[in-house]
Amino acid sequence: MDEHSIHSPYFFDFYEKVILNKNQIPGFDEIENVRNKLLQSTLEIEMKDLGAQSAHFKNEKRSLAKVATTSISPRPLCELFFRLVNYMEATSIVELGTSAGITSLYLAKQSQSKVVTFEGNKDLINIAFTHFEYFNTKNIRLIEGNIDNTLSDYLQNPSKIDFALMDANHRYEPTIRYFNLLSKRIAQKGIIVLDDIYHSEEMTKAWKELSRHELVYGSVDLFRCGILFFDPALNRQHFVWKM
Ligand SMILES: C[S@@+](CC[C@H](N)C(=O)[O-])C[C@H]1O[C@@H](n2cnc3c(N)ncnc32)[C@H](O)[C@@H]1O
Repeated sequence: MDEHSIHSPYFFDFYEKVILNKNQIPGFDEIENVRNKLLQSTLEIEMKDLGAQSAHFKNEKRSLAKVATTSISPRPLCELFFRLVNYMEATSIVELGTSAGITSLYLAKQSQSKVVTFEGNKDLINIAFTHFEYFNTKNIRLIEGNIDNTLSDYLQNPSKIDFALMDANHRYEPTIRYFNLLSKRIAQKGIIVLDDIYHSEEMTKAWKELSRHELVYGSVDLFRCGILFFDPALNRQHFVWKM
């Protein structure tokens, strides 16, 4: 696959500027220093089952280092999310699943963006807050609690969402439910990203269904994550690309 085989001008440009472009942005290394500290941490944190996701965890307590290894998006993916919100000039950003706040920091890198991020694990919430304070971040709001309750409350607010990253509960039913809630508030040129689309049969099923949803006018399958486009001008085109 290369850009010459993409006939849509929008997706051609998107491929060049979001997928191919790997330019470094000042400030990413500082966020990565925080990730490196997490990877070396000896802290143990309490894991509540929020109906969540992980096959990596079987016990109630986990080391923070293990959480950082298994559930925080890796740097290339965080950089892709940054390029995406930057390309779209997204000002209203939602992230389901904050964890320690690493991806939230990437999403909030442009000061004009406002990031609203949702997390239910108290220990991770406290860690994310220390990271947001460390970077003196003013444009991240963390909504605490189970997304099953907090998302619909938050969405009572009628303002539009430009970009949403769904990276919390990786089961079929909540994925569809959260998508249905978010899609009511998505801006006309908005985007929803689904992480871990091949993490399980349930996620694959959700991805296959959502990429053909009536409100979705384009999709990009990057294997690790899937991008759903809501702009009707895009004429229902679907791509499978390598990151
Ligand atoms: C994969 S991690 C998020 C990683 C984060 N986006 C990053 O890349 O830095 C998923 C997070 O979602 C949270 N989560 C899962 N289900 C949830 C729910 N129903 N309500 C609130 N938080 C939930 C988990 O506690 C976990 O921290």
